[in-house]
Amino acid sequence: MKTVAIAGSTGSIGTQTLEVLAADPDRFRVIALTAGSSWEAVAQQASLVRPDTVILDDGANAERLRAAVPKGTTVAVGENALREAVAEADVTINGIVGFAGLPATLACLGSGKRLGLANKESLIAAGPVVQRARRTVGAELVPVDSEHAAIHQCLRSNDVAERVMRLQITASGGPFRGMTKAELMEVTVAGALAHPTWAMGPKITVDSSTLMNKGLEVIEAVELFGAPAGQHGYGLGFDDIDVVVHPQSIVHSMATFSDGSTIAQLSNPDMRGPIGYALAFPDRLDHPFGGMDWTEPLTLTFEPPDREAFPCLDLAFAAGRIGGTAPAWLSASNEVAVEAFLDGRIRWSEISAIVAEVLTFHDGGTGETLEDVLDGDHHARRLATEAVLQRS
Ligand SMILES: NC(=O)c1ccc[n+]([C@@H]2O[C@H](COP(=O)([O-])OP(=O)(O)OC[C@H]3O[C@@H](n4cnc5c(N)ncnc54)[C@H](OP(=O)(O)O)[C@@H]3O)[C@@H](O)[C@H]2O)c1
Repeated sequence: MKTVAIAGSTGSIGTQTLEVLAADPDRFRVIALTAGSSWEAVAQQASLVRPDTVILDDGANAERLRAAVPKGTTVAVGENALREAVAEADVTINGIVGFAGLPATLACLGSGKRLGLANKESLIAAGPVVQRARRTVGAELVPVDSEHAAIHQCLRSNDVAERVMRLQITASGGPFRGMTKAELMEVTVAGALAHPTWAMGPKITVDSSTLMNKGLEVIEAVELFGAPAGQHGYGLGFDDIDVVVHPQSIVHSMATFSDGSTIAQLSNPDMRGPIGYALAFPDRLDHPFGGMDWTEPLTLTFEPPDREAFPCLDLAFAAGRIGGTAPAWLSASNEVAVEAFLDGRIRWSEISAIVAEVLTFHDGGTGETLEDVLDGDHHARRLATEAVLQRS
């Protein structure tokens, strides 16, 4: 039986991970649940799955949580406790949102364990550091982001790394697809949170509305699949990735090979599919989360993204091409701007403006050390906070 830690168990990815595990109780045992501050939600989860440990990032309600968890479950607080719990599990699903997910990513890979990575921000912000941790003996990163889980599956159809020519990352286009720049000046928080095909946490939902999510995923794809052929990679860079708008969210991404064949992975939009894939790989689960009924009529459409109306996409390409800590700056300034937008302090169109402004100050940090990454994240957050203040 595989032991599982769920980092960010109270979020969208975390709760769906528990649903996947509940469908296969003989195969997995949850040994740790972690949350930011939602002690009541995590207490309820603990009463159902009876983990060894429950960890909160914010300890303000630790005593109340201690009184609420079942006998045999211990409560701990903070990053060190999280690191220990993750190091112990056979598999960790990292569903923490934002840069706060970095300790779980590093602790899991650094302990030589399987990481099911939903928390793309840790890989994007700390690429070189995470890549080093990924080389730990036994460490294995299986993506949970549906696009990268799709590419991971497409690439398994092929034995010769040099034959992979391009990747196509699909995007639903979000709730504002087809809007002009002028119309986008007036959009609201409620509009940004009304995603047409996916139900997700607020930060990634806003990222989907700006196409920043797709830009982050392009950087994520280069980190995951870009290493030179022969070093677990396919030698792919930013020029080898197409972003394709596909509003139905059925084709989750594709890989194109040297003979002109394109292989795609298709399923209904249901994150429990890629979560189950990361848990079971190289096997597959029995439960068809997201399974399709191919006897029904279906129309799939594809179109190029509107890069002018959605400038976050090219900001991410630019930061990715600069490399070093530029992706960390992109991701940190975006986190600050999205939070300000969700709080009603800035307009939707100001998210991209703030990220663009912060990136102009990038100091050329290499991101080779954790210290450099933390410093870059801190610096970019400070600049983005100032940029928000100037506008609010
Ligand atoms: N949702 C999806 O369908 C989806 C799809 C693909 C990729 N992803 C990626 O998965 C990650 C999670 O997304 P989500 O939509 O599940 O987010 P979410 O619903 O907002 O959940 C975030 C989780 O992280 C925890 N958390 C927040 N701040 C924390 C901190 N400082 N320290 C420790 N834990 C903290 C939250 O705990 P509290 O409840 O206590 O705040 C919650 O459990 C993101 O990186 C996202 O891009 C999500």
